[in-house]
Amino acid sequence: MKLKHYLQFSDLSAEEYAYLFERAALIKRKFKAYEKYHPLSDRTLALIFEKASTRTRVSFEAGMYQLGGSVVHLTTGDSQLGRAEPIEDSARVISRMVDLVMIRTFEQTKIESFAQNSRVPVINGLTNEFHPCQILADIFTFIEHRGSIQGRTVAWVGDGNNMANTWLQAAQLLGFTIHVSTPRGYEIDRAVAGVRQDCFKVFKDPMQACMGADLVTTDVWTSMGFEAENEVRKTAFADWCVDSDMMQNAKPDALFMHCLPAHRGEEVAAEVIDGPQSAVWDEAENRMHVQKALMEYLLLGRL
Ligand code: CP
Ligand code: NVA
Repeated sequence: MKLKHYLQFSDLSAEEYAYLFERAALIKRKFKAYEKYHPLSDRTLALIFEKASTRTRVSFEAGMYQLGGSVVHLTTGDSQLGRAEPIEDSARVISRMVDLVMIRTFEQTKIESFAQNSRVPVINGLTNEFHPCQILADIFTFIEHRGSIQGRTVAWVGDGNNMANTWLQAAQLLGFTIHVSTPRGYEIDRAVAGVRQDCFKVFKDPMQACMGADLVTTDVWTSMGFEAENEVRKTAFADWCVDSDMMQNAKPDALFMHCLPAHRGEEVAAEVIDGPQSAVWDEAENRMHVQKALMEYLLLGRL
């Protein structure tokens, strides 16, 4: 099988996503029915974290065990990665011992260097630039609740960050529109996502961005690695809180999503994240189901 990495959303085609969403639904049904499914028995996944995580770790770790495989967990603090061993050397060594690697790190260039020197597939578990596994789960969740995302409108309210960049790639690939509203100074950079101008629209006012949206989504004001900017960002982002007024501008059946962890009273009001339009718990759970489909696909291809 040809070696395939998942470093950004645009690494797979629309057709491959259609397959993955179908597969994730099947794998989820098996999980809910307590049906044993061990296609990855004797396979090992290395999880490498250079930033904190709850969902990504639990979903990959539990998911790999459920598929019959096992997991090795490494962090910067407890491996030679934190003592300046070159990423290329780490990739050469780790990928001789495991079948699959997931990395959460800082610059996208770092995961790319790892992948270039890896003998096995590498999955992006979040970088400063992208978070493809999250958007995979988000779109799967949207489809479960509302059907196809093609032709729909997604409102992105907040930072022009890794989540925003990944949404842009997904919009271009799967044919939907993103309404983006960010504070001044925190705009998206289209070049990072590498997308055409016509798959998104920029709005100064977040209320306007939510108009007619099928899905309203946001993220923390300060991402991991940017903590020094926390206080400045709190002032800049004050009007970018998704509250019930914003949700009222969206379609009546609009969903709300957030990759979590969330800060109630900052980027989202409690009434929204804990309200009837919120899909955040399904969204979090679905990380596991879609990533099981992804791991199966990268290791075994189409079944
Ligand atoms: N959404 C997400 O990636 O969560 P964690 O940071 O907890 O992994
Ligand atoms: N944008 C956030 C997502 C956390 C899952 C971050 O990078 O910290």
